[in-house]
Amino acid sequence: MKKAPSGILPIIAVDRRAPNALYKQIYDAYRAAIVDRRLRSGQRIPSTRALATELGVSRFPVLNAYAQLLAEGYFETRVGAGTVVSSSLPEQVASSQPPAARLAAARSGPRPVSGRCSILPAFEPGPWLRGWGAFSVGQIAFDQFPLQVWSTLVARLCRNMGARSFNYGEHMGSKAFRETIATYLRTARSLRCEAEQIMIVSGSQQALEISARVLLDRGSRVWVEDPGYRLARNVFALNGGNLVPVPVDNEGLNVAAGIKRCGKARAAFVTPSHQFPLGVTMSASRRLQLLDWAQNSGSWIIEDDYDSEYRYESLPIASLQGLDANSRVIYIGTFSKVLFPSLRLGYIVIPSDLVDRFLIMRRAMDICPSSFFQDVLTDFIGEGHFARHIRRMRVLYRERRNALVDSIGKEVGSMVEVLGDEAGMYLAVSLRSGGRDVQIAKRAARDNLWLWPLSLSYLSEVSRQGFILGFGSTAVAEVPGAVRKLRDLISSK
Ligand SMILES: Cc1ncc(COP(=O)(O)O)c(C=O)c1O
Repeated sequence: MKKAPSGILPIIAVDRRAPNALYKQIYDAYRAAIVDRRLRSGQRIPSTRALATELGVSRFPVLNAYAQLLAEGYFETRVGAGTVVSSSLPEQVASSQPPAARLAAARSGPRPVSGRCSILPAFEPGPWLRGWGAFSVGQIAFDQFPLQVWSTLVARLCRNMGARSFNYGEHMGSKAFRETIATYLRTARSLRCEAEQIMIVSGSQQALEISARVLLDRGSRVWVEDPGYRLARNVFALNGGNLVPVPVDNEGLNVAAGIKRCGKARAAFVTPSHQFPLGVTMSASRRLQLLDWAQNSGSWIIEDDYDSEYRYESLPIASLQGLDANSRVIYIGTFSKVLFPSLRLGYIVIPSDLVDRFLIMRRAMDICPSSFFQDVLTDFIGEGHFARHIRRMRVLYRERRNALVDSIGKEVGSMVEVLGDEAGMYLAVSLRSGGRDVQIAKRAARDNLWLWPLSLSYLSEVSRQGFILGFGSTAVAEVPGAVRKLRDLISSK
């Protein structure tokens, strides 16, 4: 017979010298924990043997206590699960005050928190962030992921886990993984880098957090693209940054406008390969201007290269970091788009003279990255699966992108302008005659259409209303229907 899963041992203190019997002490402790709702309905109870061993008593008092708790309806037995806290508890327990109400009553006196907590408004996810399906941003073609290969690598690594795999890993990330990434970046992204400069992190978001901690002081001015990536702006603001919105035009960040607004900033945050959210590729002359500005004003450039593997009209564009002769660029990459976001793996390429500072911050934050999936990815890349996956997905996403652009042209071409469809897994549409994008997006979500309003990406004046449309997880067959819904929503504004 299958063994029932074992329950977590609750804290029960028994005192052999106390006047009441051991079984009564155990019974009282369980009853109090259930009444107090520290133990909840359906929760497994440890076996009598396990509890007796833990308490250092014989099994008899435990058996007696369990028998009484079962008889009174606090416990019940379930086939395959052993003994659990009852789902129909005695009345006085069910009607006891819920813990939330008691916690509220306990909230008195000063309860200070840091001033940082109120720098950003409370997080309220818009409905467009909740959905699965047509146009949802940031979703990949999950059903196309090479799970068979992946699970073979995972199983192989699990079988071969040795002492090293159980211990803390290297602070910067595994050497083999960093070597693999350095080779990839030098080859596919034209970076100038060595493995020693690469730090493995849990996605771009952690890369931004570490970079901001290293580079910014309170009040440091930071150029940010406008419209731009809100999650990056949040990190800079929380780390004392004073945000300077710099407009984006069809060549990318407008460097001259940035210099006019604030010639001397500590850093500039850019997405030059595929600007988020307008999708522009930064022109060569703007790249050189930006690098010149950074060198002349003693500033840093944070390059977020989040989805450049997928380019449809030309080969991937070389990174800004690769053009930088003065080590002014902190380059951030992620596996969230090219593989999948729940992996939470990314990397920073750090100028050599800053590596020690980044390391100090990282050690204070989380010591080192989790090791297992670094090893999986080292094999996945090393054995050629990564390159194959990118090639396959580029074809698939190109088809999805083409279907979307065609459909938009047919159905809503007169109402919207398509922006930034050359790369990545989303494009933007700008409403030609204005309109309230947030209101339309809210109505769309009721109809399972996920439109991310463009206006939310602006920091200063909103100069475009429209939507960011993800096509990563939107199959070609779904596209025409979804675009017709979009047309109906826009025209009924
Ligand atoms: C501009 C930009 N950078 C980075 C990311 C990826 O972030 P992460 O690596 O933390 O998943 C995204 C995700 O949507 C993004 O839009």
